[in-house]
Parts: sequence; structure tokens; C-alpha cells
Amino acid sequence: MARKIDTQNESLDAYVYMAKTFADTPWLHYGMWEPGERVSVPNMRMAQERYVDLLLSFFPPAPKTVLDVGGGTGEMAKLLTSKGYEVDMITPSRVQAEDGETKLPAGRVHHCTFENFETDRKFDVVLFSESFQYIPLGQSLPKAKALLAQGGVIIVADCFRGQSYNGELAPGSGHKITAFFDMLPKLGLAVARDEDVTAKVAPTMEIDQQFYRGFVSPLVTQISGTLRRTRPILHWLAGTGYKLFTSKDARDRMQMRLKADYRSPDNFRKANTYRFLALRGE
Ligand SMILES: C[S@@+](CC[C@H](N)C(=O)[O-])C[C@H]1O[C@@H](n2cnc3c(N)ncnc32)[C@H](O)[C@@H]1O
Repeated sequence: MARKIDTQNESLDAYVYMAKTFADTPWLHYGMWEPGERVSVPNMRMAQERYVDLLLSFFPPAPKTVLDVGGGTGEMAKLLTSKGYEVDMITPSRVQAEDGETKLPAGRVHHCTFENFETDRKFDVVLFSESFQYIPLGQSLPKAKALLAQGGVIIVADCFRGQSYNGELAPGSGHKITAFFDMLPKLGLAVARDEDVTAKVAPTMEIDQQFYRGFVSPLVTQISGTLRRTRPILHWLAGTGYKLFTSKDARDRMQMRLKADYRSPDNFRKANTYRFLALRGE
């Protein structure tokens, strides 16, 4: 049977390398920007660390046990450990797990999905820092609640699709915010704190636009031009194959992605709501 390729995690792994190389950052989440600030790759880490500061303000004082679900490169787990928390992190990505293992005490990195994570332990904090959107809603919340110690808190910082979002092409991602809020009372969970940071994270889309317009698109044009000049037959074969094996819809989407017009901060604000939430048992 053909191996199923996990494109979602592979693209996140590619992002790990790009973030490290171009922005010197270990963080994989959006940045939070102040009005008038220059939105640029060199400023990305500073904006991401503002996000981390806000996240830290959601934590009860150490010492506490923490499960960092989708812990990325292990940077948050490392920071929390240095502040006196006892942290375990989960990631389904081999690349990220290897990074995390260099930063955390032995046995603290669990290389699996949250859905497949097995333990008898309970945690004071179950953290989802921009990882909540990758896990089916029907599995993440019930399991997180079951893993909570008495008086514990679930912290979610993530992008959600807004109430009026209808499946149109738009930047951003996530579960529908209405489906999320509907599920809470059914699980006996209540919102203890809720901060809407959509306006602050939206400028991160400018980085995305800069990346496609300023790097990916010129690179594609240059490679195609070089190929046309130096290997015209190969260029013709590649072009014909692309048209033959890719639908017009997919080609149009790729064209739009390269121009990145729709990936604007404004369109992000319209289609999404980015929230920092603390949830507790009722
Ligand atoms: C956008 S990154 C955020 C990483 C990190 N928490 C941060 O804030 O920098 C999303 C994370 O979720 C993880 N992830 C994706 N699917 C997952 C799943 N089913 N279970 C647990 N983690 C998952 C990814 O591997 C990655 O570590």
C-alpha cells in the first residue's frame, strides 16, 4: 500500500528550517505587531516573543506540570522549564522532536500526535500554542479535559475561522469559532479568560506576501526563464506536463498563491479570529 504523505507536517518542518535560516527564530507561531511597526522578517522574532509574553501571562505560577501539545521546536517547553515548570511536550514531527530533545531533560519529548498520546498522568496545564487547529475538535477538547489535574487549565492560543467565514479562499485557518464555543458547555468547560488578538497578529500576513511576491514568485520565473533558454525541450515538456496533470483550478490557485493578493492582513481580519483562551472545568 502506498505510504500516506503527511503534507501538513512536512510543510511545517520546511517552515522550521526557513524560520531558523531567514528569521533566526525557533518559534513557529504568528507574531504580534504594534501599530506603525515595520513588518519584516528581521522583526519577526521580536513580534513572536510578544506572543510568548502574552501566553506566559495565562499560566498559573510555577511549579506546575505542563503538557505542551504541538510544542514545535521545544522552545516554549524549554522556557517554561527554566521558570520552574515541569514540562512534557508532544509533536508528531521527527524534525521538531529531535530539536526538542536537545533542549529538554530526557523522556520529556513525546514523538506522536495528541490523538495517539497515552499516559496515566494528569497535568495542571494543557497548552495548545497554535497547535489546536491541527487536531479534530471532537478529539482535542475531550482529551485535554480528561488530562487535566484538579483545578487545572487548558490554554489555547490559535487562529479560528470567524462566524461569517463560508469556505472562500482566504488567508488563515482553524476550527470555526462558533463550533468551538458550542462544544465547551457540553464538556463542562468554561472560559476563564479570552483575549482577541486578531488585529495584532494580522500584519504577519505581510511577511507571507513578501515571501511569495519577493522570493517564491521571482524564483519560479527565474528558473522557468533559465530552463527555457538553456533546455527548451525540457522546458516545453515540464510546461506541457504541468498543464496535463494539473487541473485549471489548481493552476489558477497556484497563480493566486504566487501573486498572494488575497493573503492580505485585511482579508485575514475578515475571515479569522485569533484568540488566547484559558478554559477551566465548571
Ligand atoms: C504552528 S506549529 C506551533 C509550534 C509551537 N507550539 C509554537 O508556538 O511555536 C504547530 C505544531 O502543532 C503540531 N501538530 C500538528 N498536528 C498535531 C497533532 N495531531 N498532535 C499534536 N501536535 C500536532 C506540529 O507538529 C507543530 O509542532
